[in-house]
Order: sequence, then C-alpha cells, then structure tokens
Amino acid sequence: MNRQLMCVRCGSTYPCEDWRLRCDCGGLLDVQLDMDGALSHADLATTFQTRLSSPLSQDLSGVWRYRELVLDLPPGEVVTFPEGRTNLYALDPTPLGLSALWAKHEGENPTGSFKDRGMTVAVSWARHQGARALICASTGNTSASLAAYGARAHLPVFVLIPEGKIAQGKLAQALAYGAHTLQIDGSFDDAMHAVEQMATQHNLTLVNSLNPFRLEGQKTIILDSFFQLGQILPDWIVVPGGNLGNTSAFGKALIEMKALGLIDRVPRLAVIQAEGASPFARAAQGNFRHFEPMQPETIATAIRIGNPVSYDKAVRAIRFTNGVVTSVTDGEILQAKHDLDRQAVGCEPASAATLAGLRRLTREQVVRCGESALLIITGNLLKDPDTTIALATGQTAALGVTEASSLAACANEPRHVPSDPETIGRIIEEELQ
Ligand code: F0G
Repeated sequence: MNRQLMCVRCGSTYPCEDWRLRCDCGGLLDVQLDMDGALSHADLATTFQTRLSSPLSQDLSGVWRYRELVLDLPPGEVVTFPEGRTNLYALDPTPLGLSALWAKHEGENPTGSFKDRGMTVAVSWARHQGARALICASTGNTSASLAAYGARAHLPVFVLIPEGKIAQGKLAQALAYGAHTLQIDGSFDDAMHAVEQMATQHNLTLVNSLNPFRLEGQKTIILDSFFQLGQILPDWIVVPGGNLGNTSAFGKALIEMKALGLIDRVPRLAVIQAEGASPFARAAQGNFRHFEPMQPETIATAIRIGNPVSYDKAVRAIRFTNGVVTSVTDGEILQAKHDLDRQAVGCEPASAATLAGLRRLTREQVVRCGESALLIITGNLLKDPDTTIALATGQTAALGVTEASSLAACANEPRHVPSDPETIGRIIEEELQ
C-alpha cells in the first residue's frame, strides 16, 4: 500500500522519506495509508491468518504479520525479535457484571512491554533510512525497548530519563543493553522537550511516539486482539494513558479497520490516567475545549506525564470511538494490581490502572451490565519490583500512597524461619490450616 505523511491539524502531506517529526504548522504527523490499492478485507484477513503457520521471522512477529497495514520493508531490513503474539487471557467477568472480560498481556513482549511493537517498526525504518543514532525520552519502558532494538540494529542509542523516577527493572535493561543513559534533573515532559530539540540539532532519529512509525506498530495490539477473539472486538477497550501514543494508535487502527471493512461496529476506548497525572482526563471533562498541562505525580511512574505529546491524535481517537477518559487514585491502582497479580496476570502499576478504571466506569454505569471489555496490560510485573514488594510488605505509605491502610489486606510478607526441617514442616502445616 502507498503511504505518505499527513498532518493531523492542517492536512499537509509529505513523503515518508522526509526526516521530519512535525508539519511546518507544528502539527503531529500520521502515516497515511492509501486504501484504494488495498486488498479486500476478506483477502487481508486470510493473508494474516495464513502467516500464523509460516516459519519466517517476519510472519512469526505479531507486528510484521500485519505488514500491509504497518509498513512494507524487505524482510532482511526488518529489526525483529520477533515481538507481539502476546497472550489474551479470559478473566472472570461476573464481579463487574460484564458478559466477558479479557486481558491482553503486552508484558509478554521481548523487553516486557508494548513498546516493542512500535519500536520494531521505528527502528527498522530508521535503519532503512540510514539513521546515525537513535534517541528517546522515557519513563522507562521506551528506553528499555529502544536499547534492545538499537543493540540488534547495531545503532548507537541515547535515552533521557527523569532521575530517580523510573522503575529499577527498566533502568537495568537500558544499562545492560548498552544505551547511553542520561538521567535528567526534571520530569519526563522536560526530557521529551529536550530530545525533540536534540534530534533536530544533532541529526538523531527520535523514536518516541511523536515518530508516526511507532504508532503504526502499536496498532497491531488491536489487530492481534481482533484475530485472537475470532474476528470480533469487545464493546470496550481499556488502556492506560500517559504520553497517549497507544490511545492514538488504537484510534488509528480502528479508523482503518472500519474503512477497510474488517469491522462494522467500532468498540469504545476507555483511557485511564492516574489522578496525579491526568491532564487528558481533565481536558475530556470540558469536551477538549481547553488543555492544561500539569506537574505529574503518581506511583505508576510509567504514566507520570503532565504534557502528553500525542494529545491531538488521542482526542481524535476518543471522538471516533465515542470513548471516555477517567482517572483513578494510586490506591485504586495498587488494589487492582494486587487483584491481577493474584490471578497471575501480574503487571506493573500503570497497567493495573485499566482494571481500576473499569471498576470505576462500571460503578458509574458508563460501562453497562452485560457489556464486554478488553484490558490492555501494558507492562510486565518484573519491571517494578520495588512497588510490588512494598505492596506485599505493607510499605505503601512510605511511597506516599494515602490509602495505604486499605491496602493492608494485600500483604504477603515473607517469614524468617530457622533452617531445621521440623520447624519448617510445622510452619507449612500451620499455613495450610
Ligand atoms: N503503560 C506502560 C507500562 C507504559 O510504559 C506507558 C508509557 C504507558 C502505559 C502509557 O502509554 O504513553 O502510549 O499513553 N510509557 C512511556 C515510556 C511514556 O517512556 O516508557 P502511552
């Protein structure tokens, strides 16, 4: 399919090969597909399904399997692990009064988050274009993912992260994979501002979701879910919102799937933010007439963002899907994390915002009894061991969570025991009582 870059604000177009992050008017750019040359929806569906039994790495990838809707590159130019093809778990829908509830676990990607789906496309395209070096700002997962794909592409990687505000697992990954890691004295939003400038001034390829090729990869979360569910989508798709790349990518996926005839009915997006980092939820209350950035603070460091870069595209996604945006407290996030962890769909805090938000939306009867929902679990439990252990050992007050006392029931403290088998045996029997 032919592709070009198109400004979401003024409609100006540019060739994909242009090294540009924004339109001349400052607007965000989309990779626009020319649907006229597209296969029929039935042929596309058959092609995507047939690739499931192919041994080629491009077909094994849950991103490149959909390449007609993502990006066409010669197989040898694709930088892949492969990624995607994450599991979709059925959860018990009855406590929420739903007809069905699923969790798509994007934490099962090679570096433990959904970012790999976007990164494989952005890094492949950057290498194809002859990039000198790659750069991103990150709350942690983007840096881990870029570090890995950059290493695989043999390209230098620079990551800017807010010092002391990214989870240990993510920092460990960036360092281990060899990224030049610059910790800044500021927030993610400051880092984002800096990398956009660095990319332009120093001829570096920026791979944050401002890079429209990232979003082309992230669209496949929706495509994967659609095929895993037997070519249907649920009434609601629930996703955490930070920099709003996923929200934007999901909206674009649904716009294209509808235009191609893969779906007739568009599911509603529910975007969930942490209360302390909820500029999008606040803007939604005023029907997006006004946007005010905020100083972000939340235990869910992945979404500790006060000035999301993909705002305009995310508004489009909410409007197209008749979606909703809400926010939840850190206490609600941790309670939901505990409940997901106990079902062994473990995740990092930001991902648990989905269940917390769905609970809130069912209480408020925005999501109605008998409807179905899909939670997008964005990151792996092991990304943020400190928060998980604080929750298990009743230490969440020390992390600044005001509802810490109501989380006491989540505790599962390790016990010190002597090494003699008799005592250990007695304790096991006690615990089984
Ligand atoms: N969940 C996780 C685990 C994330 O890492 C992020 C974003 C989000 C949700 C929010 O997604 O930005 O598309 O709205 N992490 C970015 C990073 C910002 O740098 O790793 P979004």
